[in-house]
Amino acid sequence: MNKIAMAVMGAVGAMIAGGAVAGAPDWSKVPVRKIKVFYPGQSSFEWVMNKPDHSAVPDIVDKKRPCAKCHEGDANEIGEKIVAGKPVGSSKSVLEPKPIAGKAGWMPVSFQAAHDGEKAYFRFEWNPPQIAGPQMDKKNEVKVTMLFDGGSTVEGAELNGCWSTCHDDLRSMKNAKDDKTTKHIKGADLASGKFYDLIQYRSGKGEKPVDGYVADQRVMEGGKGLVKAEGVKEGNKWVVTFERTLAGGGKGDHALVADKIYNFGFAVHESFAEARYHYVSLGYQFGLDKTVEGVKNYYNITKQ
Ligand code: HEC
Repeated sequence: MNKIAMAVMGAVGAMIAGGAVAGAPDWSKVPVRKIKVFYPGQSSFEWVMNKPDHSAVPDIVDKKRPCAKCHEGDANEIGEKIVAGKPVGSSKSVLEPKPIAGKAGWMPVSFQAAHDGEKAYFRFEWNPPQIAGPQMDKKNEVKVTMLFDGGSTVEGAELNGCWSTCHDDLRSMKNAKDDKTTKHIKGADLASGKFYDLIQYRSGKGEKPVDGYVADQRVMEGGKGLVKAEGVKEGNKWVVTFERTLAGGGKGDHALVADKIYNFGFAVHESFAEARYHYVSLGYQFGLDKTVEGVKNYYNITKQ
């Protein structure tokens, strides 16, 4: 092994051990939240918010129950049914018309987040399921995408999570009109904060981290807040970390400040997947050094 290779290995080793990289928190001291991400198929916003398909709609709308309230426990079962093309919901809908043989329906992700007063750090760790299906995105075995609003700035985000951005007419969805329509939210407005900030890690060689946003369409540039997005696959384990300034400051960046409650969700594209063929989390929330009692899908990002 030459010197450069050894230096690279050393840096990777230090990163895995945690704490050795300047600025990054000592992850061994940061609370871990296990989150089941699952295969959503074509369960669009329109489907989950349509009572004949999903009997929970009155509970969501009238009783303000977020998805995670009912589905944190059974997200794995939902994913397994959908990925296999089995009928789901009250309408017995098949939400995956073309099941991919051998594709896992879900996987557990260990989520962690911390901040240091200037930057927020997000860490995702999981054991990938067996690679299955066609390589849709040949460059990237894995992508991790996180969406967050500006502190309840996206209507319904605290109930619907990323489903607020996922519609029937998107590419690869049921009523797709073209292959260009991307995620969007209804009534989006950059000026008043009605948009989701988007950060993405891509595993492919030479691929750059993405700092964009989702407003009336998905834009994969414009942000200035993302400092780093890094990933390592070590044996059968992926670790992906993001470093993001609290201030943001670019187009489509939300500032992260104390006292607000932010809605977020994330997606993992595994096995070279693209578009909707990803695993998604239900909607979660975070705040900075803010304790919120009794809300199961809330994560307090504390200063390290
Ligand atoms: C009040 C509890 C409750 C809430 C809140 C809720 N659901 Fe459901 N969900 C159910 C029940 C019960 C079913 C079973 C089918 C039915 O009754 O429609 C279901 C079914 C589903 C299914 C089909 C899988 C299956 O096993 O039938 C999906 C996908 C789903 N929900 C997604 C969501 C999403 C996304 C949200 C948030 C927007 C959400 N649910 C909010 C109770 C809930």
